[in-house]
Amino acid sequence: MKSPYSETVLEHFRHPHNVGKIENADGKAIEGSPACGDMVSVYINVHPDTKTITDIKFESYGCASNIATGSIITELAKGKTLDEAKKISWKQASDALGGLPKIKAHCSVLAVEGLRSAIENYEESHGLIKERIPTTLEIVRARLRKVMNPMAGLDLVRTNLVQDIEIDKGTVRVVVNLPEDHQFTPAIKEEIIEKIKPLWDIKEVIVEFTQ
Ligand code: FES
Repeated sequence: MKSPYSETVLEHFRHPHNVGKIENADGKAIEGSPACGDMVSVYINVHPDTKTITDIKFESYGCASNIATGSIITELAKGKTLDEAKKISWKQASDALGGLPKIKAHCSVLAVEGLRSAIENYEESHGLIKERIPTTLEIVRARLRKVMNPMAGLDLVRTNLVQDIEIDKGTVRVVVNLPEDHQFTPAIKEEIIEKIKPLWDIKEVIVEFTQ
C-alpha cells in the first residue's frame, strides 16, 4: 500500500532536525491541539540586537506529521528575524514537506502555533509587545490550556483541574483541583506561574490547591 506521506515527511520524521530542549531559553512555549490533544514545545534563543533566532529546538508529543512539521519549521525559522519567523504559515510548512494528508493539517498548525507562541513569550518577557490588552479571565484560561496535566498528558483546563480563576489589581489567583501534597503540584505550580507571569499587567501569580 502506498504511504499517505511524502518522502520528505518520512525523512523528517525518521531524522528530525532540532529536537530537544534549550535550557534557559530566551523564549519558550507549549501548545496543545484542540483536534487531537497532542502537544508540542518550542524553545528559541534570540540575538538581543538583531532579534534573529540564533537557536531553536522542539519536543513533540504528537504524531509523525507533527514531528516532521516541527523539524521543518525549526529549519525555516533558524536565522530569521522574529517578524519574519512569525509569518511562517502552516501552508508553507506543509508545502516544504511536499504536502500532508488533509486530515493531518491540524498537526502542522500545532507546530506553527508553537513557534508563534514561543516568539510571543519572548516578546512579552522582553517588553516588546506594543498593543496592550488588559488581562481577562479568557486570556488566563487560554494560557492554562498550555499547562500540561502530567497525569493525563492533556492540559489542565481540558482535564478539569482548574477550579477557579480570579484577577484583581495585577494579581492572578488560580485554584487547582489537586491536593497540596500531590507529587505533581510543585511542577504544575511552577508552570502556571511561568505562563501567566509574562502578561504585562500581572505582578503576582498565586496558585492554590483545593484538598
Ligand atoms: Fe495529533 Fe498529529 S494527530 S499532532
